[in-house]
Amino acid sequence: MAEVIIVDSADQAGELIASEIIAVITAKPDAVLGLATGSTPLPVYRALAARRDEVDLSRVSAFALDEYVGLPVSHPESYRSVITRDVVEPLGLDPRRVHVPNGSLDTIQHAGADYEAAIEAAGGVDLQILGIGTDGHIGFNEPGSSFASRTRVKTLTMQTRRDNARFFDSIDDVPMHCITQGLGTISRARHLVLLAFGEGKAHAVAGAVEGPLTASLPGSALQLHERATVLVDEAAASQL
Ligand code: GLP
Repeated sequence: MAEVIIVDSADQAGELIASEIIAVITAKPDAVLGLATGSTPLPVYRALAARRDEVDLSRVSAFALDEYVGLPVSHPESYRSVITRDVVEPLGLDPRRVHVPNGSLDTIQHAGADYEAAIEAAGGVDLQILGIGTDGHIGFNEPGSSFASRTRVKTLTMQTRRDNARFFDSIDDVPMHCITQGLGTISRARHLVLLAFGEGKAHAVAGAVEGPLTASLPGSALQLHERATVLVDEAAASQL
Protein backbone atom coordinates (compact mmCIF):
# COMPACT_ATOMS: atom_id res chain seq x y z
CA MET A 1 0.00 0.00 0.00
CA ALA A 2 1.38 3.37 -0.99
CA GLU A 3 1.70 6.13 1.56
CA VAL A 4 -0.72 8.89 0.54
CA ILE A 5 0.00 12.50 1.51
CA ILE A 6 -2.65 15.12 0.78
CA VAL A 7 -1.07 18.52 0.20
CA ASP A 8 -2.60 22.00 0.03
CA SER A 9 -1.03 22.79 -3.31
CA ALA A 10 1.30 21.55 -6.01
CA ASP A 11 3.91 24.00 -4.73
CA GLN A 12 3.76 22.44 -1.27
CA ALA A 13 4.31 19.01 -2.83
CA GLY A 14 7.24 20.47 -4.77
CA GLU A 15 8.83 21.75 -1.56
CA LEU A 16 8.36 18.42 0.23
CA ILE A 17 9.88 16.37 -2.57
CA ALA A 18 12.71 18.83 -3.11
CA SER A 19 13.60 18.40 0.58
CA GLU A 20 13.49 14.62 0.20
CA ILE A 21 15.74 14.76 -2.88
CA ILE A 22 18.21 17.03 -1.09
CA ALA A 23 18.29 14.53 1.80
CA VAL A 24 18.94 11.66 -0.62
CA ILE A 25 21.80 13.51 -2.33
CA THR A 26 23.29 14.65 0.97
CA ALA A 27 23.46 11.01 2.09
CA LYS A 28 24.64 9.80 -1.34
CA PRO A 29 26.35 12.47 -3.47
CA ASP A 30 26.27 10.26 -6.59
CA ALA A 31 22.55 9.53 -6.21
CA VAL A 32 20.54 8.56 -9.27
CA LEU A 33 17.27 10.39 -9.83
CA GLY A 34 14.41 9.23 -12.01
CA LEU A 35 12.84 12.15 -13.87
CA ALA A 36 9.36 12.53 -15.28
CA THR A 37 8.15 15.01 -17.86
CA GLY A 38 4.71 16.61 -18.09
CA SER A 39 3.42 19.57 -16.08
CA THR A 40 3.05 17.72 -12.79
CA PRO A 41 6.70 17.49 -11.64
CA LEU A 42 7.53 21.11 -12.52
CA PRO A 43 6.98 22.40 -8.94
CA VAL A 44 9.57 19.85 -7.74
CA TYR A 45 12.14 21.04 -10.27
CA ARG A 46 11.40 24.70 -9.46
CA ALA A 47 11.76 24.11 -5.72
CA LEU A 48 14.99 22.20 -6.24
CA ALA A 49 16.42 24.90 -8.51
CA ALA A 50 15.69 27.51 -5.84
CA ARG A 51 17.68 25.44 -3.33
CA ARG A 52 20.45 24.18 -5.62
CA ASP A 53 23.16 25.86 -3.53
CA GLU A 54 22.28 23.72 -0.50
CA VAL A 55 23.76 20.58 -1.99
CA ASP A 56 26.47 19.51 -4.43
CA LEU A 57 24.70 18.27 -7.56
CA SER A 58 27.83 17.71 -9.63
CA ARG A 59 27.88 13.92 -9.17
CA VAL A 60 24.15 13.33 -9.42
CA SER A 61 22.94 11.43 -12.44
CA ALA A 62 19.44 11.10 -13.78
CA PHE A 63 17.31 8.97 -16.08
CA ALA A 64 14.15 10.20 -17.76
CA LEU A 65 11.23 7.81 -18.13
CA ASP A 66 10.46 8.17 -21.78
CA GLU A 67 10.84 9.85 -25.16
CA TYR A 68 8.86 10.20 -28.36
CA VAL A 69 9.99 8.03 -31.25
CA GLY A 70 10.93 9.77 -34.48
CA LEU A 71 10.80 13.33 -33.13
CA PRO A 72 14.18 15.03 -33.67
CA VAL A 73 15.91 15.63 -30.30
CA SER A 74 16.26 19.27 -31.36
CA HIS A 75 12.44 19.61 -31.44
CA PRO A 76 11.40 21.81 -28.49
CA GLU A 77 8.92 19.17 -27.32
CA SER A 78 11.25 16.18 -27.49
CA TYR A 79 11.63 14.96 -23.93
CA ARG A 80 15.39 15.48 -24.28
CA SER A 81 14.66 19.19 -24.91
CA VAL A 82 12.09 19.32 -22.11
CA ILE A 83 14.46 17.71 -19.58
CA THR A 84 17.28 20.04 -20.63
CA ARG A 85 15.04 23.11 -20.26
CA ASP A 86 13.16 22.13 -17.09
CA VAL A 87 15.79 20.20 -15.16
CA VAL A 88 19.37 20.17 -16.45
CA GLU A 89 19.74 23.92 -16.96
CA PRO A 90 17.87 25.23 -13.88
CA LEU A 91 19.60 22.73 -11.59
CA GLY A 92 22.99 22.97 -13.25
CA LEU A 93 23.24 19.18 -13.61
CA ASP A 94 26.08 17.69 -15.62
CA PRO A 95 24.39 17.01 -19.00
CA ARG A 96 26.63 13.96 -19.54
CA ARG A 97 25.02 12.35 -16.49
CA VAL A 98 21.44 12.97 -17.59
CA HIS A 99 19.97 10.27 -19.77
CA VAL A 100 16.84 10.20 -21.91
CA PRO A 101 15.84 7.14 -23.96
CA ASN A 102 16.95 7.45 -27.56
CA GLY A 103 13.90 7.76 -29.80
CA SER A 104 15.89 7.99 -33.02
CA LEU A 105 14.64 5.56 -35.66
CA ASP A 106 18.20 4.54 -36.65
CA THR A 107 18.95 2.90 -33.31
CA ILE A 108 15.48 2.11 -32.01
CA GLN A 109 15.91 -1.66 -32.20
CA HIS A 110 18.46 -1.74 -29.41
CA ALA A 111 17.59 1.54 -27.67
CA GLY A 112 15.53 -0.22 -24.98
CA ALA A 113 18.22 -2.72 -24.05
CA ASP A 114 20.86 0.05 -24.12
CA TYR A 115 18.81 2.14 -21.72
CA GLU A 116 18.25 -0.76 -19.32
CA ALA A 117 22.00 -1.41 -19.35
CA ALA A 118 22.76 2.25 -18.61
CA ILE A 119 20.39 2.29 -15.61
CA GLU A 120 21.98 -0.92 -14.30
CA ALA A 121 25.49 0.46 -14.80
CA ALA A 122 24.57 3.54 -12.77
CA GLY A 123 23.44 1.30 -9.90
CA GLY A 124 19.69 1.77 -10.33
CA VAL A 125 17.43 4.70 -9.53
CA ASP A 126 17.30 5.95 -5.92
CA LEU A 127 14.22 8.14 -6.19
CA GLN A 128 11.82 8.06 -9.12
CA ILE A 129 9.46 10.99 -9.69
CA LEU A 130 6.24 9.99 -11.45
CA GLY A 131 3.22 11.75 -12.87
CA ILE A 132 0.16 9.84 -13.99
CA GLY A 133 -1.87 10.11 -17.19
CA THR A 134 -5.63 10.52 -17.09
CA ASP A 135 -5.89 6.88 -18.23
CA GLY A 136 -3.62 5.73 -15.43
CA HIS A 137 -0.41 5.45 -17.45
CA ILE A 138 2.96 6.02 -15.83
CA GLY A 139 5.91 6.88 -18.02
CA PHE A 140 4.24 6.05 -21.31
CA ASN A 141 3.06 2.62 -20.14
CA GLU A 142 -0.41 2.75 -21.54
CA PRO A 143 -3.21 0.46 -20.32
CA GLY A 144 -2.34 -3.14 -21.17
CA SER A 145 1.35 -2.77 -20.26
CA SER A 146 2.81 -5.74 -18.43
CA PHE A 147 3.93 -5.20 -14.84
CA ALA A 148 7.16 -6.95 -15.83
CA SER A 149 7.81 -4.78 -18.90
CA ARG A 150 11.19 -3.23 -19.65
CA THR A 151 12.20 -0.22 -21.75
CA ARG A 152 10.61 -0.65 -25.16
CA VAL A 153 8.62 1.02 -27.91
CA LYS A 154 4.91 1.56 -27.32
CA THR A 155 2.07 3.04 -29.34
CA LEU A 156 0.47 6.08 -27.72
CA THR A 157 -3.27 5.92 -27.15
CA MET A 158 -5.54 8.49 -28.74
CA GLN A 159 -6.33 9.79 -25.23
CA THR A 160 -2.65 10.44 -24.47
CA ARG A 161 -2.09 12.05 -27.87
CA ARG A 162 -5.08 14.31 -27.18
CA ASP A 163 -3.77 15.14 -23.68
CA ASN A 164 -0.33 16.00 -25.09
CA ALA A 165 -1.60 17.88 -28.17
CA ARG A 166 -1.40 21.09 -26.12
CA PHE A 167 2.38 21.01 -26.51
CA PHE A 168 2.19 20.79 -30.31
CA ASP A 169 0.56 22.87 -33.07
CA SER A 170 -2.03 20.17 -33.67
CA ILE A 171 -2.79 16.61 -32.61
CA ASP A 172 -1.47 15.43 -35.98
CA ASP A 173 1.99 16.58 -34.90
CA VAL A 174 1.96 14.41 -31.74
CA PRO A 175 4.07 11.31 -32.49
CA MET A 176 2.32 7.95 -32.68
CA HIS A 177 5.04 6.05 -30.83
CA CYS A 178 7.26 6.43 -27.82
CA ILE A 179 10.03 4.57 -26.03
CA THR A 180 9.39 4.20 -22.32
CA GLN A 181 10.86 2.52 -19.28
CA GLY A 182 8.62 -0.44 -18.52
CA LEU A 183 6.62 -0.93 -15.34
CA GLY A 184 9.20 -3.55 -14.35
CA THR A 185 12.00 -1.02 -14.91
CA ILE A 186 10.23 1.69 -12.90
CA SER A 187 9.44 -0.72 -10.09
CA ARG A 188 13.14 -1.37 -9.53
CA ALA A 189 13.66 2.21 -8.32
CA ARG A 190 14.23 2.22 -4.56
CA HIS A 191 11.59 4.88 -3.85
CA LEU A 192 8.67 5.82 -6.09
CA VAL A 193 7.12 9.27 -5.65
CA LEU A 194 3.94 9.83 -7.62
CA LEU A 195 2.44 13.29 -7.85
CA ALA A 196 -1.01 14.20 -9.14
CA PHE A 197 -2.98 17.43 -8.99
CA GLY A 198 -6.47 18.38 -10.11
CA GLU A 199 -9.76 16.60 -10.51
CA GLY A 200 -8.82 15.24 -13.92
CA LYS A 201 -6.41 12.84 -12.19
CA ALA A 202 -8.82 11.66 -9.45
CA HIS A 203 -9.93 8.52 -11.27
CA ALA A 204 -6.37 7.50 -12.16
CA VAL A 205 -5.16 8.16 -8.59
CA ALA A 206 -7.97 6.08 -7.07
CA GLY A 207 -7.17 3.22 -9.42
CA ALA A 208 -3.45 3.44 -8.74
CA VAL A 209 -3.77 3.61 -4.96
CA GLU A 210 -6.71 1.38 -4.13
CA GLY A 211 -8.07 -0.17 -7.31
CA PRO A 212 -7.42 -3.78 -8.29
CA LEU A 213 -3.94 -4.63 -9.54
CA THR A 214 -4.49 -4.51 -13.24
CA ALA A 215 -2.62 -3.83 -16.44
CA SER A 216 -5.69 -1.79 -17.42
CA LEU A 217 -4.52 0.83 -14.94
CA PRO A 218 -0.71 0.74 -15.08
CA GLY A 219 -0.34 3.01 -12.03
CA SER A 220 -1.73 0.19 -9.88
CA ALA A 221 1.75 -1.37 -10.14
CA LEU A 222 2.66 1.06 -7.35
CA GLN A 223 0.78 -1.14 -4.89
CA LEU A 224 3.38 -3.87 -5.37
CA HIS A 225 6.25 -1.56 -4.47
CA GLU A 226 7.68 -1.63 -0.97
CA ARG A 227 8.27 2.13 -0.87
CA ALA A 228 5.80 4.23 -2.82
CA THR A 229 4.66 7.71 -1.81
CA VAL A 230 1.73 9.47 -3.46
CA LEU A 231 1.35 13.23 -3.10
CA VAL A 232 -2.01 14.58 -4.20
CA ASP A 233 -4.06 17.70 -3.72
CA GLU A 234 -7.67 17.52 -2.45
CA ALA A 235 -9.07 17.43 -6.00
CA ALA A 236 -6.84 14.54 -7.13
CA ALA A 237 -7.66 12.71 -3.86
CA SER A 238 -11.41 13.20 -4.28
CA GLN A 239 -12.16 9.61 -5.38
CA LEU A 240 -10.07 7.93 -2.67
C1 GLP B 1 3.01 12.20 -20.29
C2 GLP B 1 4.28 11.62 -19.68
C3 GLP B 1 4.03 11.05 -18.31
C4 GLP B 1 3.26 12.04 -17.48
C5 GLP B 1 1.91 12.31 -18.11
C6 GLP B 1 1.06 13.28 -17.33
O1 GLP B 1 2.24 11.24 -20.91
N1 GLP B 1 4.89 10.63 -20.50
O2 GLP B 1 5.27 10.73 -17.70
O3 GLP B 1 3.08 11.56 -16.18
O4 GLP B 1 2.16 12.86 -19.39
O5 GLP B 1 1.34 14.60 -17.72
P1 GLP B 1 0.99 15.86 -16.89
O6 GLP B 1 1.86 15.85 -15.70
O7 GLP B 1 1.31 17.03 -17.78
O8 GLP B 1 -0.45 15.77 -16.55
